[in-house]
Amino acid sequence: MTIAAPEIRLHSNVEAFLASPKQNLIDGRWIDAASSKTFAVHDPATGDVIAHAAAGDAPDIAAAVAAARKAFDEGPWRRMTPSERGKIVWKIADLLEDHLEEFAQLESIDNGKPAAVARVADVPLAVDIFRYMAGWATKIEGATIPITVPYLPGARFHAYTLREPIGVVGQIIPWNFPLLMAAWKLAPALAAGCTVVLKPAEQTPLSALRLGEIMQEAGLPNGVVNVVTGFGETAGAALAAAPGVDKVAFTGSTEVGRIIVKAASHDLRKVSLELGGKSPNVIFKDADLDVAIPGAANAIFFNHGQCCCAGSRLYVEKDIFDDVISGVAEEAKKIKLGHGMADDSGMGPLVSEEQLNRVCGYIEEGKASGAKAVVGGARKGDRGYFVEPTIFTNIKQDMKIVQEEIFGPVVTAAPFDSLDEITPVANDSVYGLAAGVWTRDVARAHRFAAELRAGTVWVNCYNVFDAAMPFGGYKQSGWGREMGHEVLELYTETKSVCVNIS
Ligand code: NAI
Ligand code: MG
Repeated sequence: MTIAAPEIRLHSNVEAFLASPKQNLIDGRWIDAASSKTFAVHDPATGDVIAHAAAGDAPDIAAAVAAARKAFDEGPWRRMTPSERGKIVWKIADLLEDHLEEFAQLESIDNGKPAAVARVADVPLAVDIFRYMAGWATKIEGATIPITVPYLPGARFHAYTLREPIGVVGQIIPWNFPLLMAAWKLAPALAAGCTVVLKPAEQTPLSALRLGEIMQEAGLPNGVVNVVTGFGETAGAALAAAPGVDKVAFTGSTEVGRIIVKAASHDLRKVSLELGGKSPNVIFKDADLDVAIPGAANAIFFNHGQCCCAGSRLYVEKDIFDDVISGVAEEAKKIKLGHGMADDSGMGPLVSEEQLNRVCGYIEEGKASGAKAVVGGARKGDRGYFVEPTIFTNIKQDMKIVQEEIFGPVVTAAPFDSLDEITPVANDSVYGLAAGVWTRDVARAHRFAAELRAGTVWVNCYNVFDAAMPFGGYKQSGWGREMGHEVLELYTETKSVCVNIS
């Protein structure tokens, strides 16, 4: 059965945006790739081509980095008062909010996610991080430091620290939350006074380009944010290695994270990484199952499982295992797959044919290794990249589907006996991005949260994000934390100033 594409009625601004040429934003001007090449952008629900974007490569990256370098070194961005900078960042939030519906639609047709989800999650969260970071622009402070120097008896010093922008930042982002990932990266960099070259994912370049227009409209000086669309192996690799970039911030696969680190090792530029995950979600038998069952479904099926923090390993205390699995399976069956622009769609397609093949490959691999799909377990339809929400039981901890990130609507589920038994199992992963715990026992919740090697632990909830709450990974899930005031560490350098006042 083929999933029917609805008659899509797009906002007139989206229509106009799609009809306009998709160029790169370099030094405040929209220009074609130096090669004049473009690449096709697809609606993953239909496979139809919806736009062509500039195929940026090394020369475009070089021009963008030069523009960002000039904007950083010569100003005015870095030399503006923090208050002026903060006002512009706030203005970006206001404009984004004014255009919320357009962005929700763009995300839907480019990434596949339901527009209804983008309207309440992706776009409002993006607005919020610009506002939150606008406030930080005026609050990035150093400290005064009392010092005593043993080999200079009697000498007196006035020592203090300055927190300065790190410089030109290369930001490489993925396709799962195209706008939100751009916002998570741009907002703190701008608040700190950095300048940026942003490379969106080749699967989903549209919202970053529209955001580029909005940022110009908000009054960002030319060259402060440059957007170059293109592929990872070309534009991305060029940005990761470009001389003139002081820091690279990357979100994506662990495999490419390693490539980014290698590229940075030559001149030792700073790197922050937000990589994969295989997060455990653990339900104890005293949990409120009315909350935990839909919660476990949301943990894996939100954004079609294309979340680095997806609760992809479900562990349930033995006595309630069957009830919970049948409950989560019911939730899975209730999810209506469909085009993201159809009002009743609960889940859209995966982002690309490549991801469809990857996720279906894992599903087949799981079945072949003896796991049982109690629900789902197949592609849906033959047009678009839809995959049925899938729950695997009968699993062993060392199976590939339990150890590797699938990045689709596929969860593995296993029973456990006790907190002591489950703790090492929950931590048995090369990743450490997030974890979920469901229990009414407050002491157990906190004890378990402390034992988990994960950057975020959700208790009786999952996928709760806030601009003020740091997010990032232990182990191979990454380096550094985004959001919260902690993210400012990624975009600032600390300078000690020591003044002899003897
Ligand atoms: P990817 O890591 O290849 O792509 C992410 C970004 O990196 C894109 O902008 C891409 O153009 C860029 N990139 C790719 N190769 C590059 C290179 N050599 N140098 C510089 N930049 C490069 O991820 P992909 O292939 O789209 O997805 C593969 C898997 O990665 C997924 O199945 C999932 O497991 C994981 N992933 C994790 C994400 C996360 O949020 N942590 C997001 C996207 C993918
Ligand atoms: Mg890749």
